[in-house]
Amino acid sequence: MTIFPRSIEEWYKPLTREEKIWIALAFIVALTLAGTTIAWHFIDRSHQVPSIAVEADPREFLSKAMEFSRTYSGKVVPEGTDIYLAAVRFTWIPSELILKAGVTYRIWVSSPDVLHGLSIIGPGDVVYNVMVMPGMAYVIHVKFDKPGEYEIRCNEFCGIGHANMIGRIRVVG
Ligand code: CUA
Repeated sequence: MTIFPRSIEEWYKPLTREEKIWIALAFIVALTLAGTTIAWHFIDRSHQVPSIAVEADPREFLSKAMEFSRTYSGKVVPEGTDIYLAAVRFTWIPSELILKAGVTYRIWVSSPDVLHGLSIIGPGDVVYNVMVMPGMAYVIHVKFDKPGEYEIRCNEFCGIGHANMIGRIRVVG
């Protein structure tokens, strides 16, 4: 009768050779993935963990970003100047940054409305990648070695205009 469980001796069979090989392979794959996850943090510096994450008043941050945008519109941001970048449905404020090559800048990024993501994309690859939660401000340090054009793209779906939420960074020599 099937309502009584069978005793272990009835159904247990020792692992076959093939089963042992599969278990060993699965274990090796799991270890490799765990190892590369840790190693990647050190190898690929573009996926930064923000060095500062603080609560930010949405209106205050937005007005800071707008003031920054007015001050440095069409101008190169001088070395040592903090950059304020707001992710707002469906644009970046400022929508264009002009930066000097070889200089490390501190960027404060925040969202006053919904969840966005900040991706800075260089020729052919993602250079920086940070999630931007509403009500929080994050700091990342960016440095571009060569002059060129970079895109600031939103990488979290934030609504109907998400795909057009593109800003620009011009790096000059
Ligand atoms: Cu902002 Cu998608």
